[in-house]
Amino acid sequence: MQHQKILILDFGGQYSQLIARRVRERCVFCDLKPADMPLAEIEEYAPIGIIFTGGPESVYEENAPRVPEQLFSLGIPILGICYGAQLIAHTLGASVVPSEHGEYGKRTLIIQKETPMSGGIETESVCWMSHRDRIETLPEGFEVLGYTENCPVAMFGDVKRKIYGVQFHPEVVHTEYGQLMLDDFLCDVCGAKKDWTISGFVKDEINILREKIGGKKVLLALSGGVDSAVAATLVHRVAGHNLTCVFVDHGLHRKGEVEEVVRIFRGTLGMNLIVADARKRFLDALKGVTDPEQKRKIIGAAFIKVFEEEAKKIGAVDFLVQGTIYPDVVESGKGKSAVIKSHHNVGGLPDVVDFKEIIEPLRDLFKDEVRKVGEELGLPNFVIWRQPCPGPALAIRIMGEVTEEKLATLRDADCIFCEEVQRAGLQKEIWQYFAVLTDSKTVGVQGDSRTYENVIALRAVTSVDAMTADWARIPFEVLEKVSARITGEVKHANRVVYDITSKPPATIEWE
Ligand code: XMP
Repeated sequence: MQHQKILILDFGGQYSQLIARRVRERCVFCDLKPADMPLAEIEEYAPIGIIFTGGPESVYEENAPRVPEQLFSLGIPILGICYGAQLIAHTLGASVVPSEHGEYGKRTLIIQKETPMSGGIETESVCWMSHRDRIETLPEGFEVLGYTENCPVAMFGDVKRKIYGVQFHPEVVHTEYGQLMLDDFLCDVCGAKKDWTISGFVKDEINILREKIGGKKVLLALSGGVDSAVAATLVHRVAGHNLTCVFVDHGLHRKGEVEEVVRIFRGTLGMNLIVADARKRFLDALKGVTDPEQKRKIIGAAFIKVFEEEAKKIGAVDFLVQGTIYPDVVESGKGKSAVIKSHHNVGGLPDVVDFKEIIEPLRDLFKDEVRKVGEELGLPNFVIWRQPCPGPALAIRIMGEVTEEKLATLRDADCIFCEEVQRAGLQKEIWQYFAVLTDSKTVGVQGDSRTYENVIALRAVTSVDAMTADWARIPFEVLEKVSARITGEVKHANRVVYDITSKPPATIEWE
């Protein structure tokens, strides 16, 4: 089915992906494209509306990203946000100037004139500002629709031409009526019918896959993460036993993970699952290695080798399925290639598998949408809400050399931390939470004896995309319980510390 589409032109703002997610949340399909998308391509794309995102530049600078003026004559409704709003003003001949003081954070927005963009919005409400430049004059045909104390043009528009600009960010939760404003733009300005739903996506995708796959052979590398799990389940609906999933057991997984994968995918879902036991091989390859990047390289290479061997046993297949999701496509640049992040452990698979075509059933979806597809397909909650796990898994959470003994200690400590976070109901608020086995030993007293054992660090962060992150404010009582349990139940651990560093300057992982 053909959906109505909103085109979001990305000027590099920090909230660009968030805008796209907000539009999708409102059941309207949208794509995020680079701001320099040529006019002819935009026309061909045929969006029902266009949104310009924010961006770090100033519109009056020589090399600032621009759009052709003809874009405003196509009759397509446009909403500019922050830099996008300034760009509308600037392109249509008005004045945007630097101001001495920027405006950041919550401000009171006063709606001066009601338009289709402000349906249901109180005259006074909170909006979120983050800008330095300001719009000084407006182009012909435009009028001020809203203002704040320090920003005389916080919202403006030309109702007839359906072009609007907002200096604030409707996409962030701090803007009280932000969701409603986006909804007003989508429905009342662009005439969106809200025809993008997850159940519709699943139905359509199954039809597409059915047509494509027929009775042909399909191969997929199952990582245990949510993306490959959902991709596998979706394809399995169509391909059944013609789908073979390969799960590489590298021995670096978290406690119980391998058993869980087997139980769900082979047991509950009845998939044709091959578990390649390569535990010894990975441990041998990692012997004596302490450098994090070298660990990653060794693991990546060994993973591909093991997969290649399994693929050879299976022989030629028609399709290789990858769990690429929309942020991978967007971040890879122009949204063209099926690129998986370079540090991802399945990046090299297409080179070693004898296949005809790659299938990426989730390439249009954001993570939250992938989870909803998982729900729609009946995957259990703990698979859907599984936190992201890096390809090299526990190997980069053990500082220094990886050994079987260290893996056992970390697995037990990590399991306790995860259990307590989940018991406290915090798992949906926290992006990632895990234990790290540091390479420090400290003196302790356990029972009546002096010990000299490992320090376990706990890491928990909140984040929307892992690009930036903040340390999670886990209640002390939960931390206390975790610390008591780890020092009491885990062999070779006598001290627990909590990491209170954000990203940047630190990274989420310790290695
Ligand atoms: P950092 O530590 O760079 O992590 O803040 C950002 C996100 O990426 C994950 N990560 C990895 N994922 N292979 C992966 O597949 C890796 O080598 C790797 N290193 C980090 C990390 O868990 C976080 O979600």
